[in-house]
Amino acid sequence: MKSDYTDKNSSLGSLYGDHLETITARHDHALEQAGASHVLIYSGNPKVAFLDDHYYPFKANPHFVSWVPLTRLPFSYLIYTPGEAPVLLYFQPQDYWHVVPGTPDGYWTRHFDIRIVNAIEDIAAHLPKQREKCIVIGEIDDEAMAFGIERVNPNTAINILHYARGIKTDYELAVMRLAAERGAAGHRAAEAAFREGRSEFDIHRSYCEAVSHTDEELPYGNIVALNEHGAVLHYTDLDRASPAVTVSFLIDAGAQVHGYASDITRTYSFGDMRFQGLIDRIDRMQQEIVAKVEVGVDYRDLHVNTHRMLAEVLVDTELAKGDPDTLLETGVTSAFFPHGLGHLLGIQVHDVGGFMENESGTTIDPPSGHPFLRLTRVLEQNMVLTIEPGLYVIDMLLENLRGTPAEKLVKWDTIDWLRPFGGIRIEDDVRVLVNDRENLTRDAFALL
Ligand code: GLY
Ligand code: MN
Ligand code: MN
Repeated sequence: MKSDYTDKNSSLGSLYGDHLETITARHDHALEQAGASHVLIYSGNPKVAFLDDHYYPFKANPHFVSWVPLTRLPFSYLIYTPGEAPVLLYFQPQDYWHVVPGTPDGYWTRHFDIRIVNAIEDIAAHLPKQREKCIVIGEIDDEAMAFGIERVNPNTAINILHYARGIKTDYELAVMRLAAERGAAGHRAAEAAFREGRSEFDIHRSYCEAVSHTDEELPYGNIVALNEHGAVLHYTDLDRASPAVTVSFLIDAGAQVHGYASDITRTYSFGDMRFQGLIDRIDRMQQEIVAKVEVGVDYRDLHVNTHRMLAEVLVDTELAKGDPDTLLETGVTSAFFPHGLGHLLGIQVHDVGGFMENESGTTIDPPSGHPFLRLTRVLEQNMVLTIEPGLYVIDMLLENLRGTPAEKLVKWDTIDWLRPFGGIRIEDDVRVLVNDRENLTRDAFALL
């Protein structure tokens, strides 16, 4: 497994110019609507722990990352004025305690007027003089870092940019394919460690080694769940010891390339054929849902439709009985599948704009009874989203069905059988096309 993706940067370079044109056009529009002449995008700064002198891992402002593939450049500013080359104030402090950012290098640099800045005091000299014509986008927790600009994160501009980020450029799609390949390689390594009977902690380390990420570089905390831990939706505990008996494995883990994420889940059986049959069934269902992804589809319909499909699986596998509508209305499917079908994916794992109806900030609510759905938009070409149906034994939710009409619809004996396996989730990252779709995740696994 290659340890970085610089070898592919030359092809990314040929796409980056067009990407930047799209990004600048979005900002031209945002500035016009906000009535401003310049935008400053602050990369952000590390945050110190309470009463401590240590810092939390640095997370760059995603707006900054959409311009430049720099995820580790705190205290820096991108300054954009329509019609002019964007200025990058590249912060390279005089610091002998830490490694300072190296000389800017790569396919992106020639598009910028890059100015190295060694001290915070030197930033002001590079900023547009008329601060009242500027807006700043970023997390400004020290007013000094706004340099006298009063309009910080104005909604008019932010909404336009967030809505637009739902659609990926060709450059972003290329980077996300690489992130999918990287994640798929990690999943293969993790599966091998699971088959060897290793602990969650060891499997996690195998994954990180294969994707060449530290924990901090992962796009989100790995979910590495053996046995019944698979039923904890955000399980991140990582037991150090192997269980006495390993029966199942659910892994939800991604990788990043140039700040763009993949988000992938797979579930495995350790030899139990009945559980394998259930995994296969959910896998087929997941692929049927993916096959419905295309331009014009309302994602809310996909989500509700998934509940209908799951109802059939529950009946066929003797976890429940009754017709799909009844199983939906009585809350049976929601007890087994209590999260959303998926979300937009990009720089952020749960990328912004999933609820936006338009660029002015109007939102679309999730369907009633489905509060955790994070994507309610009608699908457009080159959106990238996840499709991640699941089926779990979560006793807290199933017990809520007792004493309701749902109680007699659930086959409690089968639940007792399934409980030690935890649950199943299958998650792919999918690009939306006209009458078609691209499955970044399955393509990446196929390339291995
Ligand atoms: N890994 C977080 C998610 O699947 O949404
Ligand atoms: Mn996801
Ligand atoms: Mn996931």
